[in-house]
Amino acid sequence: MKTLFIYYSNSGNGELVKEYYEKLGYDTRRVEPKNGLPKGMFLQMMVGGMLAGMNHKSKLKDFNYDISEYDEIIIGSPIWNGRLACPINTILNNINLDNKKLTFILYSGGGSAPKAVKKINKKYNAKVIEIQQPKKYPDNLNKLAQ
Ligand SMILES: Cc1cc2nc3c(=O)[nH]c(=O)nc-3n(C[C@H](O)[C@H](O)[C@H](O)COP(=O)(O)O)c2cc1C
Repeated sequence: MKTLFIYYSNSGNGELVKEYYEKLGYDTRRVEPKNGLPKGMFLQMMVGGMLAGMNHKSKLKDFNYDISEYDEIIIGSPIWNGRLACPINTILNNINLDNKKLTFILYSGGGSAPKAVKKINKKYNAKVIEIQQPKKYPDNLNKLAQ
């Protein structure tokens, strides 16, 4: 079984999840928005939170959407305003995940995001793992072994 981890990270928590999966030998692809969030926590929260609330889809730098060689896809997203991050919205809008074993890893400040989980469960038959930001709580990476 071949597995690909597709992820976005604004502030490095997703990178720790990527390193975890790299050690397992999984391929990884980082999603890069054309325009990142502004600098400064307050502005980031305002802009990112508002856009996520609108289900905005970020414009991305080149992304390889071909996942035909993989049986399993794992998608990693930070939680913004209780929702998936905007660069991940773009991926989900443009990729066909039918017939793939699917898992979502949601990393957030609080460690739980019921709105995002509800939305995922409505659309996908997927496992969802929620973790609290691993930069601050590295033990949370153990949950990925679930
Ligand atoms: C715009 C924005 C909105 C956020 N909203 C939430 C939220 O609603 N709930 C929460 O628990 N954490 C929230 N956070 C915190 C991030 O989800 C958390 O720090 C996450 O681990 C970041 O992942 P990253 O470092 O890979 O970007 C928010 C962060 C940003 C930048």
